[in-house]
Amino acid sequence: METLLEARRLSYRHPRGDGGEVALVGVDLVVAPGEVVAVVGPSGGGKTTLVRLLAGLTRPDTGEVYLAGRPYGELDLREVRRQVGLLFQVPHMFPGTVAENLSTAARLAGVDVAGAEVAGALAAVGLADVLAHRSADRLSVGQQQRVALARLLAMGPRCLLLDEPTAALDPASTGVVEALLGRLRDDRMGIVLVTHEIPVARRLADRVVVLVDGRVVEEGRAAKVLSRPAHPATRALLEEGVG
Ligand SMILES: Nc1ncnc2c1ncn2[C@@H]1O[C@H](COP(=O)(O)OP(=O)(O)OP(=O)(O)O)[C@@H](O)[C@H]1O
Ligand SMILES: [Mg+2]
Repeated sequence: METLLEARRLSYRHPRGDGGEVALVGVDLVVAPGEVVAVVGPSGGGKTTLVRLLAGLTRPDTGEVYLAGRPYGELDLREVRRQVGLLFQVPHMFPGTVAENLSTAARLAGVDVAGAEVAGALAAVGLADVLAHRSADRLSVGQQQRVALARLLAMGPRCLLLDEPTAALDPASTGVVEALLGRLRDDRMGIVLVTHEIPVARRLADRVVVLVDGRVVEEGRAAKVLSRPAHPATRALLEEGVG
Protein backbone atom coordinates (compact mmCIF):
# COMPACT_ATOMS: atom_id res chain seq x y z
CA MET A 1 0.00 0.00 0.00
CA GLU A 2 1.20 3.50 -0.83
CA THR A 3 1.52 5.49 2.41
CA LEU A 4 1.28 9.23 2.77
CA LEU A 5 1.65 9.55 6.51
CA GLU A 6 2.93 6.89 8.86
CA ALA A 7 3.50 6.86 12.60
CA ARG A 8 5.67 4.09 14.00
CA ARG A 9 5.70 3.17 17.69
CA LEU A 10 5.00 6.70 18.92
CA SER A 11 5.33 7.24 22.64
CA TYR A 12 4.94 10.53 24.45
CA ARG A 13 4.73 11.65 28.05
CA HIS A 14 3.55 15.20 28.79
CA PRO A 15 6.30 16.89 30.80
CA ARG A 16 5.08 17.64 34.31
CA GLY A 17 6.57 18.16 37.75
CA ASP A 18 5.34 14.83 39.07
CA GLY A 19 7.18 12.78 36.46
CA GLY A 20 4.78 13.40 33.63
CA GLU A 21 1.53 12.07 32.27
CA VAL A 22 1.75 9.18 29.81
CA ALA A 23 -0.25 10.27 26.76
CA LEU A 24 0.77 7.79 24.04
CA VAL A 25 2.31 4.33 24.20
CA GLY A 26 3.66 2.62 21.08
CA VAL A 27 1.07 4.02 18.67
CA ASP A 28 1.21 2.94 15.02
CA LEU A 29 -0.92 4.63 12.36
CA VAL A 30 -0.86 4.60 8.55
CA VAL A 31 -2.75 6.91 6.19
CA ALA A 32 -2.82 6.28 2.44
CA PRO A 33 -3.61 8.96 -0.17
CA GLY A 34 -7.38 9.16 -0.58
CA GLU A 35 -8.06 7.55 2.78
CA VAL A 36 -9.99 8.84 5.80
CA VAL A 37 -8.81 7.35 9.10
CA ALA A 38 -11.06 8.15 12.06
CA VAL A 39 -9.45 8.29 15.50
CA VAL A 40 -12.03 7.75 18.23
CA GLY A 41 -11.86 7.07 21.94
CA PRO A 42 -12.82 8.43 25.35
CA SER A 43 -11.84 11.92 26.50
CA GLY A 44 -8.21 12.01 27.63
CA GLY A 45 -7.34 8.98 25.50
CA GLY A 46 -4.59 10.84 23.62
CA LYS A 47 -6.28 11.90 20.36
CA THR A 48 -5.16 15.54 20.44
CA THR A 49 -1.67 14.54 21.56
CA LEU A 50 -1.48 12.13 18.63
CA VAL A 51 -2.45 14.71 15.97
CA ARG A 52 0.04 17.21 17.43
CA LEU A 53 2.78 14.64 16.95
CA LEU A 54 1.52 13.80 13.46
CA ALA A 55 1.66 17.53 12.62
CA GLY A 56 5.25 17.81 13.84
CA LEU A 57 4.28 20.34 16.54
CA THR A 58 5.44 17.99 19.27
CA ARG A 59 8.36 15.56 18.95
CA PRO A 60 7.76 12.02 20.23
CA ASP A 61 9.87 10.65 23.11
CA THR A 62 10.39 7.53 21.01
CA GLY A 63 9.15 6.46 17.59
CA GLU A 64 8.91 8.60 14.45
CA VAL A 65 6.47 10.06 11.92
CA TYR A 66 7.13 9.66 8.19
CA LEU A 67 5.76 11.76 5.33
CA ALA A 68 5.81 9.78 2.08
CA GLY A 69 8.46 7.53 3.63
CA ARG A 70 10.73 10.31 4.93
CA PRO A 71 11.22 10.73 8.70
CA TYR A 72 10.22 14.10 10.17
CA GLY A 73 13.66 14.25 11.84
CA GLU A 74 15.18 14.69 8.36
CA LEU A 75 12.57 17.08 6.95
CA ASP A 76 12.27 20.86 7.06
CA LEU A 77 9.47 21.41 9.56
CA ARG A 78 8.05 24.27 7.46
CA GLU A 79 7.61 21.77 4.67
CA VAL A 80 5.81 19.42 7.07
CA ARG A 81 3.54 22.30 8.17
CA ARG A 82 2.63 23.10 4.56
CA GLN A 83 1.97 19.50 3.55
CA VAL A 84 0.32 18.27 6.74
CA GLY A 85 -2.36 20.70 7.93
CA LEU A 86 -3.67 20.54 11.50
CA LEU A 87 -7.12 21.82 12.38
CA PHE A 88 -7.03 22.48 16.12
CA GLN A 89 -9.82 21.33 18.42
CA VAL A 90 -10.16 24.98 19.53
CA PRO A 91 -9.71 27.40 16.59
CA HIS A 92 -7.25 30.29 16.83
CA MET A 93 -7.67 33.19 14.42
CA PHE A 94 -4.92 35.46 13.14
CA PRO A 95 -5.64 39.17 13.70
CA GLY A 96 -7.56 40.84 10.86
CA THR A 97 -10.36 39.84 8.57
CA VAL A 98 -11.42 36.39 7.44
CA ALA A 99 -9.93 37.01 3.98
CA GLU A 100 -6.67 38.19 5.59
CA ASN A 101 -6.61 34.98 7.66
CA LEU A 102 -6.58 32.97 4.43
CA SER A 103 -4.03 35.10 2.59
CA THR A 104 -1.71 35.37 5.62
CA ALA A 105 -1.73 31.59 6.15
CA ALA A 106 -0.96 31.00 2.50
CA ARG A 107 1.80 33.62 2.47
CA LEU A 108 3.42 32.00 5.53
CA ALA A 109 3.48 28.79 3.50
CA GLY A 110 4.99 30.59 0.51
CA VAL A 111 1.79 30.58 -1.58
CA ASP A 112 -0.05 33.59 -3.08
CA VAL A 113 -3.84 33.41 -3.15
CA ALA A 114 -6.10 35.62 -5.25
CA GLY A 115 -9.46 37.03 -4.13
CA ALA A 116 -11.31 34.43 -6.18
CA GLU A 117 -9.47 31.63 -4.40
CA VAL A 118 -10.36 33.12 -1.02
CA ALA A 119 -14.02 33.26 -2.06
CA GLY A 120 -13.83 29.70 -3.36
CA ALA A 121 -12.26 28.39 -0.15
CA LEU A 122 -14.90 30.14 1.97
CA ALA A 123 -17.69 28.75 -0.19
CA ALA A 124 -16.19 25.26 0.10
CA VAL A 125 -16.53 25.36 3.89
CA GLY A 126 -20.03 26.86 3.70
CA LEU A 127 -19.20 30.42 4.74
CA ALA A 128 -20.98 33.28 3.01
CA ASP A 129 -18.99 35.78 1.00
CA VAL A 130 -20.18 38.63 3.22
CA LEU A 131 -18.07 37.23 6.08
CA ALA A 132 -14.82 37.67 4.12
CA HIS A 133 -14.31 41.22 5.35
CA ARG A 134 -15.50 40.67 8.92
CA SER A 135 -12.97 40.61 11.70
CA ALA A 136 -12.21 36.92 12.27
CA ASP A 137 -12.38 37.21 16.05
CA ARG A 138 -16.01 38.36 15.79
CA LEU A 139 -17.18 35.06 14.31
CA SER A 140 -18.81 32.18 16.18
CA VAL A 141 -16.65 29.21 17.14
CA GLY A 142 -18.28 27.12 14.41
CA GLN A 143 -17.54 29.83 11.85
CA GLN A 144 -13.96 30.18 13.10
CA GLN A 145 -13.50 26.42 12.84
CA ARG A 146 -14.47 26.64 9.16
CA VAL A 147 -12.20 29.67 8.54
CA ALA A 148 -9.37 27.61 10.03
CA LEU A 149 -10.22 24.76 7.64
CA ALA A 150 -10.36 27.12 4.63
CA ARG A 151 -7.01 28.57 5.76
CA LEU A 152 -5.46 25.10 5.70
CA LEU A 153 -6.88 24.40 2.26
CA ALA A 154 -5.37 27.63 0.92
CA MET A 155 -1.93 26.16 1.71
CA GLY A 156 -2.51 23.19 -0.58
CA PRO A 157 -1.77 20.35 1.90
CA ARG A 158 -1.45 16.65 0.99
CA CYS A 159 -2.75 15.54 4.33
CA LEU A 160 -5.23 16.97 6.84
CA LEU A 161 -5.38 16.26 10.57
CA LEU A 162 -8.77 17.34 11.86
CA ASP A 163 -9.35 17.47 15.62
CA GLU A 164 -13.13 17.37 16.12
CA PRO A 165 -13.91 19.45 12.98
CA THR A 166 -17.69 19.17 13.33
CA ALA A 167 -18.10 19.34 17.13
CA ALA A 168 -19.11 23.03 17.06
CA LEU A 169 -21.23 22.81 13.88
CA ASP A 170 -24.97 22.57 13.31
CA PRO A 171 -26.25 19.70 11.12
CA ALA A 172 -26.31 21.81 7.93
CA SER A 173 -22.71 23.00 8.36
CA THR A 174 -21.65 19.47 9.35
CA GLY A 175 -23.12 18.29 6.04
CA VAL A 176 -21.14 20.93 4.12
CA VAL A 177 -17.89 19.94 5.83
CA GLU A 178 -18.58 16.22 5.31
CA ALA A 179 -19.22 16.80 1.60
CA LEU A 180 -15.99 18.81 1.36
CA LEU A 181 -14.00 16.05 3.06
CA GLY A 182 -15.50 13.52 0.65
CA ARG A 183 -14.30 15.63 -2.30
CA LEU A 184 -10.84 16.04 -0.78
CA ARG A 185 -10.63 12.29 -0.32
CA ASP A 186 -11.58 11.84 -3.98
CA ASP A 187 -8.71 14.22 -4.80
CA ARG A 188 -6.32 11.82 -2.97
CA MET A 189 -5.93 13.81 0.22
CA GLY A 190 -5.07 11.71 3.28
CA ILE A 191 -7.28 12.62 6.23
CA VAL A 192 -7.03 11.84 9.93
CA LEU A 193 -10.40 12.63 11.49
CA VAL A 194 -10.57 12.83 15.28
CA THR A 195 -14.20 12.68 16.29
CA HIS A 196 -16.46 11.65 19.13
CA GLU A 197 -19.40 11.64 16.70
CA ILE A 198 -19.72 8.02 15.66
CA PRO A 199 -22.27 8.82 12.89
CA VAL A 200 -19.70 11.17 11.28
CA ALA A 201 -17.07 8.41 11.43
CA ARG A 202 -19.58 5.98 9.97
CA ARG A 203 -20.31 8.25 7.01
CA LEU A 204 -16.72 9.28 6.23
CA ALA A 205 -14.12 6.88 7.56
CA ASP A 206 -12.46 4.09 5.61
CA ARG A 207 -10.67 2.86 8.70
CA VAL A 208 -11.09 3.46 12.42
CA VAL A 209 -8.45 3.55 15.16
CA VAL A 210 -9.64 3.36 18.78
CA LEU A 211 -7.33 5.10 21.26
CA VAL A 212 -7.75 4.42 25.00
CA ASP A 213 -5.28 5.57 27.66
CA GLY A 214 -2.73 6.31 24.93
CA ARG A 215 -2.87 2.87 23.32
CA VAL A 216 -4.52 1.64 20.14
CA VAL A 217 -6.92 -0.99 21.46
CA GLU A 218 -8.66 -1.72 18.16
CA GLU A 219 -8.11 -0.83 14.52
CA GLY A 220 -9.65 -1.92 11.23
CA ARG A 221 -12.09 -1.25 8.41
CA ALA A 222 -14.72 1.25 9.56
CA ALA A 223 -17.57 -1.00 8.44
CA LYS A 224 -16.29 -3.78 10.69
CA VAL A 225 -15.11 -1.81 13.75
CA LEU A 226 -18.32 0.26 13.88
CA SER A 227 -20.67 -2.70 13.39
CA ARG A 228 -18.86 -5.61 15.06
CA PRO A 229 -16.48 -4.01 17.58
CA ALA A 230 -14.06 -6.40 19.23
CA HIS A 231 -13.00 -4.26 22.21
CA PRO A 232 -15.26 -3.32 25.15
CA ALA A 233 -14.13 0.33 24.88
CA THR A 234 -15.35 0.46 21.26
CA ARG A 235 -18.65 -1.13 22.27
CA ALA A 236 -18.99 1.49 25.03
CA LEU A 237 -18.43 4.32 22.50
CA LEU A 238 -21.07 2.88 20.18
CA GLU A 239 -23.53 2.51 23.06
CA GLU A 240 -23.17 6.12 24.21
CA GLY A 241 -26.31 6.83 22.25
CA VAL A 242 -24.67 8.52 19.28
CA GLY A 243 -23.68 5.43 17.30
N1 LIG B 1 -0.36 20.09 28.09
C1 LIG B 1 -0.54 18.98 28.83
N2 LIG B 1 0.19 18.79 29.98
C2 LIG B 1 0.03 17.68 30.73
N3 LIG B 1 -0.81 16.68 30.41
C3 LIG B 1 -1.56 16.82 29.30
C4 LIG B 1 -1.47 17.97 28.45
N4 LIG B 1 -2.32 17.83 27.40
C5 LIG B 1 -2.92 16.64 27.60
N5 LIG B 1 -2.46 16.03 28.71
C6 LIG B 1 -2.86 14.70 29.23
O1 LIG B 1 -2.59 13.75 28.19
C7 LIG B 1 -3.66 12.81 28.10
C8 LIG B 1 -4.22 12.84 26.68
O2 LIG B 1 -4.82 14.10 26.43
P1 LIG B 1 -5.42 14.49 25.00
O3 LIG B 1 -5.72 15.95 25.03
O4 LIG B 1 -4.49 14.01 23.96
O5 LIG B 1 -6.76 13.61 24.99
P2 LIG B 1 -7.99 13.61 23.94
O6 LIG B 1 -8.21 12.18 23.56
O7 LIG B 1 -7.74 14.58 22.86
O8 LIG B 1 -9.21 14.09 24.85
P3 LIG B 1 -10.57 14.92 24.39
O9 LIG B 1 -11.48 13.91 23.76
O10 LIG B 1 -11.12 15.39 25.71
O11 LIG B 1 -10.17 16.04 23.50
C9 LIG B 1 -4.66 13.18 29.18
O12 LIG B 1 -4.40 12.37 30.29
C10 LIG B 1 -4.35 14.63 29.47
O13 LIG B 1 -4.65 14.94 30.81
MG1 LIG C 1 -8.70 16.30 22.26
